[in-house]
Amino acid sequence: MLSGKTVLLGVTGGIACYKAAELASALVKQHCKVRVLMTKNATEFIAPLTFESLTGNPVAVDTFDRDRPWEIEHIALADQADLVLIAPATANVLAKLAHGLADDMLTTTVLACDCPKLAAPAMNTRMYENAVTQDNLDALRRYGWEIIEPVSGRLACGATGKGKLPDPERLLEAVLHALTHRKDMTGLKVLVTAGPTREALDPVRYLTNLSTGRMGYAVARAAAARGADVTLVTGPTELPRPPYMAEVVEVTSARQMFEAVTARSAEMDLIVKAAAVADYRPATVAENKIKKTRSGTDLSLPLERTDDILAWLGAHKRDGQVLCGFSMETADLLEHSREKLEKKRVDLIAANNLREEGAGFGTSTNLLTFLTADAVIPLPLMSKTEAAHQLLDELLRLMGM
Ligand code: CTP
Repeated sequence: MLSGKTVLLGVTGGIACYKAAELASALVKQHCKVRVLMTKNATEFIAPLTFESLTGNPVAVDTFDRDRPWEIEHIALADQADLVLIAPATANVLAKLAHGLADDMLTTTVLACDCPKLAAPAMNTRMYENAVTQDNLDALRRYGWEIIEPVSGRLACGATGKGKLPDPERLLEAVLHALTHRKDMTGLKVLVTAGPTREALDPVRYLTNLSTGRMGYAVARAAAARGADVTLVTGPTELPRPPYMAEVVEVTSARQMFEAVTARSAEMDLIVKAAAVADYRPATVAENKIKKTRSGTDLSLPLERTDDILAWLGAHKRDGQVLCGFSMETADLLEHSREKLEKKRVDLIAANNLREEGAGFGTSTNLLTFLTADAVIPLPLMSKTEAAHQLLDELLRLMGM
């Protein structure tokens, strides 16, 4: 995703520096060129050699280091940068950056950068909440910086509160979001459903399926990265709540998903139904836990149909709205998927065959075929993120964009 991009990773002196090493490694895995700039204090926490080994590039620390010619060229570094990320950002560096102070390699270089800039503050809660720090963060936002909010948890000082550097995955997400340059969905309202539903049987049991929500979350994030206003309606998943969503609605059952989607569908330009919605639910939900039958006989469960959300959307589609459904099959993929396309009156079905390796639930990849009224487009095996972008490309074509 980040091939050909250069990220300047600024590391300042805090205990969270070790997370920056993991982030550097994650960025390199995304084929991104990473140039690390450290403050002197940061080198007390983690050695430059760690970052040099992870990124394959020299680390810049001192503006006046004559042994390393690349380090005196802070302007050259600034010119190469597609993005600056300061993580962790101390209260001190935030204050300096908010006021244009440039007294070391990191601050001088960043002052010379005109690319997107992100900062991830990490410090003691009282330092973070101090009005001076908050004023500095506001000033940085005014200057166009994106501030990645710290999370709450146990801090190095022993206190518990807001001030922890978010996990490297969250920081990587921020970089991907900022560097996805195609902002071709700006102004579009998109609703995405994801994950499984749970249909209660009694207070401790439910019927569900193997969906992890990954494909739907990938579509939601990709659309947000491209500038869309995204509402994510999600069934229960283990996935962290994705950032940059206009709204995240957490539901459990097919009925709740139906209500959440139909209440919002009229204002949407595009709806992608990646959720694996239960087709049936127990006809009654027992008030108390169902006990084994005394006689040891088998138990049958009467099931009733759930509402088909996608079919409802197809029947209530407004002019110009585009609908996308997913189809998972184990046999006759194209025939069954075309049937769904026509019966539910949707514009595109993203179909996959669960029998094929790398496709379907629980993998980070997918093997999709897009079906529209007049085309069948098979895609090769790719990551769910890449598949999400390809799907959005196709949907935008159908929207005439
Ligand atoms: N879907 C839905 N509401 C349901 C069931 C499914 O909105 N109650 C949507 C899914 O989100 C998906 C698409 O319909 O986008 C395809 O779901 P699937 O269950 O595979 O198709 P069905 O038409 O239900 O066919 P079958 O279960 O017989 O394969």
